[in-house]
Amino acid sequence: MKKKRLAIFASGTGSNAINLIEYFTGHESIEIGFVLSNKKDAPVLASASQLCVETLSLSNSEVSSGQLLIELCEKHQIDYVILAGYLRLIPLEFIEAFSEGIINLHPSLLPNYGGKGMYGRNVHNAVLKNKEKESGITIHFVNQKFDDGRVIAQFRCPISSLDTLQDLETKIRNLEQNYLPVVVEKTILGMV
Ligand code: GRF
Repeated sequence: MKKKRLAIFASGTGSNAINLIEYFTGHESIEIGFVLSNKKDAPVLASASQLCVETLSLSNSEVSSGQLLIELCEKHQIDYVILAGYLRLIPLEFIEAFSEGIINLHPSLLPNYGGKGMYGRNVHNAVLKNKEKESGITIHFVNQKFDDGRVIAQFRCPISSLDTLQDLETKIRNLEQNYLPVVVEKTILGMV
């Protein structure tokens, strides 16, 4: 049977992209088609290349074109797109073409701490400022609104009053590393 093919979109370090690549290397029914970044010097591109995955970089104006992204995914026969630390808005045309085929990883328990400006450390700083007792990650489908699509899974971690920004970042990263690949796998194989 033909393997399901994933594209991973990422803008930065790419620890989640690399974790996905390693998890699906040699997988019997899922493979990575390419990694795309909107930044040509994003470390994720070099790391993915080292793991023999095709990499692509497009400028911010190019990734604003839904049609260009659609053509790219068609050319590479992509079934699902995973946003792993991708810091650009996804064009509406592309979301419509891939209905329930785009999965985003967000470092908070949505709907809390989502929306405009809520990415990376901004999220964790806001969570700590509000003295939350827990945080976590949300893996969800992407729809036309920011951080609003159907939730696939959430995972939680406790926050102690002594936790620093770095402590919270580490807890969230651990959740991401432990759960993102398996949730993506189960979603694609229809097991959730
Ligand atoms: C992760 O925390 C993810 O939740 C968020 O952006 C960060 C990306 O980190 N969307 P990395 O580039 O995968 O290391």
